[in-house]
Amino acid sequence: MQIHLYDSAAQVGQAAATLIAAQIIAKPDSVLGLATGSTPIPTYQELIRLCKGGVLDFSRVRSFNLDEYCNLPVDHEQSYHSFMRQQLFDHINIDPANTRVPDGNARDQAAECASYDTAINQAGGIDIQLLGIGRNGHIGFNEPADTFVYGCHIVNLTQSTIEANRRFFESESDVPRQAISLGIGSIMNARRILLLATGADKAEAIRAAVYGDINPKTQASILRTHPNVIFLLDKASAGLL
Ligand code: GLP
Repeated sequence: MQIHLYDSAAQVGQAAATLIAAQIIAKPDSVLGLATGSTPIPTYQELIRLCKGGVLDFSRVRSFNLDEYCNLPVDHEQSYHSFMRQQLFDHINIDPANTRVPDGNARDQAAECASYDTAINQAGGIDIQLLGIGRNGHIGFNEPADTFVYGCHIVNLTQSTIEANRRFFESESDVPRQAISLGIGSIMNARRILLLATGADKAEAIRAAVYGDINPKTQASILRTHPNVIFLLDKASAGLL
């Protein structure tokens, strides 16, 4: 496990984008595992800049997102489908047919979960997985629990996550209560993992992930057992290390 510290969130984004860019240059048909939330936005801005500048070509890149809310229309402005279009896909030359975000409105949720894991395997697995972290140590929407769940699954969001995501909705009652998320096994199968954290509100989650027990109560703690994981942190999020 490597940990790199930076002065600012912008530098964390530049470092992450540099690693993703190197991956795409080395393997133009790379499979990216992508994340939402405010943390990866500077990374996406830098990737857009590199693409517009002619340095990066996404035409053969494929991507799978980590998660999506359940029971939120895909065109809702807070859906992760909308987020990815607004923050990245609409600004780079990726083929929309090569991007997949889990369907949180699937009638048959079990079938959607199984088909999502199968599609990742058929694409050859994820080359580089981008992760943020929840204040409670969640990755994707794998919330604190008694077990690690292997595959894509439906999650009941915890009160802490509902409160953290409340800022994006008009009221707390509008925040979806369920999500579909890649499982810990699928995340751990990625060949390389980049976990990004910025801001003091992530300091306790980072401390628990780095120094705490490897335990599903802090889902990110399992990343320490991955052979190729890099934490990119700003000083505030690393404040308790
Ligand atoms: C959501 C997402 C996570 C993300 C987390 C943190 O819960 N499902 O993938 O890491 O939020 O978001 P932020 O980066 O906005 O703090």
